[in-house]
Amino acid sequence: MPLPKAELHLHVEGTLEPELAFELAARNAVELPYADTDDLRKAYAFEDLQSFLNLYYELMAVLRTERDFEDLANAYLERAAAQGVRHAEIFFDPQAHIARGVPMGTVVEGLWRALGRSEDSHGVSTQLIMCFLRDESADSAMETLRAAEPYLDRIVGVGLDSAEVGHPPAKFREVYEAAAALGLRRVAHAGEEGPPEYITEALDVLGIERVDHGLRCMEDPALVERLVRERVPLTLCPLSNVRLRAVDVLAEHPLPAMLDAGLLCTVNSDDPAYFGGYVADNFHAVHDTLGLSTERMRELARNSFLASFLDHDEERRAR
Ligand code: ADE
Ligand code: ZN
Repeated sequence: MPLPKAELHLHVEGTLEPELAFELAARNAVELPYADTDDLRKAYAFEDLQSFLNLYYELMAVLRTERDFEDLANAYLERAAAQGVRHAEIFFDPQAHIARGVPMGTVVEGLWRALGRSEDSHGVSTQLIMCFLRDESADSAMETLRAAEPYLDRIVGVGLDSAEVGHPPAKFREVYEAAAALGLRRVAHAGEEGPPEYITEALDVLGIERVDHGLRCMEDPALVERLVRERVPLTLCPLSNVRLRAVDVLAEHPLPAMLDAGLLCTVNSDDPAYFGGYVADNFHAVHDTLGLSTERMRELARNSFLASFLDHDEERRAR
């Protein structure tokens, strides 16, 4: 039995497995520039974050209808449940769909068809986090927040993702202030490829409650001390870091040093269809390769609930 856990860093579009991509392409008469699933998988040799994002956005072309988003979310929930996930806080990237003519309502209603009944169907409670694409403008992010207003009963918070370097968090100050005023929780990717200063800026300027990745905090001891003192959770994604070359090999991942430093670390899958594993696969990989003790593995599972947006009673029930 896999350890019960919460998944806090998961892009629903990053759960699009090649088989489902081809099925949806056929259903929607979308032509993919790959002969078959094997040919597509050959494109999964990434050099960095941008080389992954190029494919990630390209494959989204197959997601067109509510039913497509429902099928995508159900496929994830089925895998997640089998990996011990009891609660998932799920990112989605509305701008990438709106830009292709797929409205916000199609995305949210479609995802909700699966998420709204996932406690019954899969034993997994869920929340949605809407991400802004940081390589798009601040105005576009604000328009996206406005487009989401009719659906805020289904969205727990906002996040910030896509190409990090050259797109510091402060660009999104106003939209994060507006999100906070609407009662939304705030997280942001920071310190994945970008420098530790982006983590500090995301905390100070955007008021984030959790850092997505945050790996590069280890270059700044004063920042580590602050994250420990303020109990700021980090959502780490070890297999993603290897595939996107944020670390050379898993054996060199700083997770053990981060736990030893007292950081509130969690382990997650990011874009599991692309990075070779879902969340329990990430747990197994760090256990086997980094030699983490059973007690450390339990700590990671416990942290995932502590760092979630569940309230304390819900959190205890989910565990
Ligand atoms: N979008 C999907 N996965 C991402 C990641 N690992 N970093 C930034 N943006 C993303
Ligand atoms: Zn991510």
